[in-house]
Amino acid sequence: MSVTRSWASDGGRFAVLVHGGAGDVPDAKVERHVAGCRAAAARAREILAAGGSALDAAQAAVIVLEDDPVFNAGTGACLTADGTLELDACVMEGEALRAGAVCALDPFKNPIAIARAVLEEGTHVLYAARGARAFAEGAGFSPADPASMITEAARQKLAEARASGKVSGWAGGTVGAVARDVRGHVAAATSTGGMVGKRAGRVGDSPIVGAGTYADDLGGAASATGHGEGILRVALGATAVHRLAHAGPEPVARGLIAEMRARVGATGGLILVGRDGRLGWARSTRTMTWAAEWDGGGEAGA
Ligand code: GLY
Repeated sequence: MSVTRSWASDGGRFAVLVHGGAGDVPDAKVERHVAGCRAAAARAREILAAGGSALDAAQAAVIVLEDDPVFNAGTGACLTADGTLELDACVMEGEALRAGAVCALDPFKNPIAIARAVLEEGTHVLYAARGARAFAEGAGFSPADPASMITEAARQKLAEARASGKVSGWAGGTVGAVARDVRGHVAAATSTGGMVGKRAGRVGDSPIVGAGTYADDLGGAASATGHGEGILRVALGATAVHRLAHAGPEPVARGLIAEMRARVGATGGLILVGRDGRLGWARSTRTMTWAAEWDGGGEAGA
């Protein structure tokens, strides 16, 4: 199943779309998840309405979601098979195609802020594990006490995965944002804890440029959520943005989510902003909470 929405936005205007992850949020909890997405989109809106950059807006939205313990990113992220946190995040801007990412990162409160520091520093694009930690500490970030970031819900999900005998399980709740600013530049940001009970060192799509995250002013920006191994295999983000050069975000998202399911049997969701500010999304999961803000209004749902 695919569900899509899109909004027209004239040139020179701004737009942001955030997601709280493809998955299966129980009906009783949907409102809380949508509220988290609304808060993130509202923060991005403030930045964009004041003339700020798409890059700042996308990052700020993801920080709000990382700080909200109901999502699988930052505080509240899911646990590895060893009961630890290994965090993935990526941010990219579409003007000069600058990108920064961290993966298998030890607990730090806001991995997306470290990814942004990687982008700004500019020597490399992606740092992993102890190298990511060393970069973060060198850039002035302090490691977090794991106990301050691991929630009871995350512990419970790991216990359930262990009890079911599966190596790793669906977590849902990855977070992301795509934005277009008044100068016509686009950006994308994505952050996640990955899969419940994942093996040490497993890295999903979110921090991989062109898979979970991609931005290019020639097409637009993309943030993916869902089964990371499948998203990696179809290079979902870059494929989507390249198609945005020729088609609107709604048909591009719907078509690619269906193709990913058909080609590699993977489910998930995708949010897109076109270079003209139009927004669109699709999912093949039961839920994907989201919120959008643009100069003419806002909307949210699951
Ligand atoms: N899509 C998030 C992950 O699989 O890690």
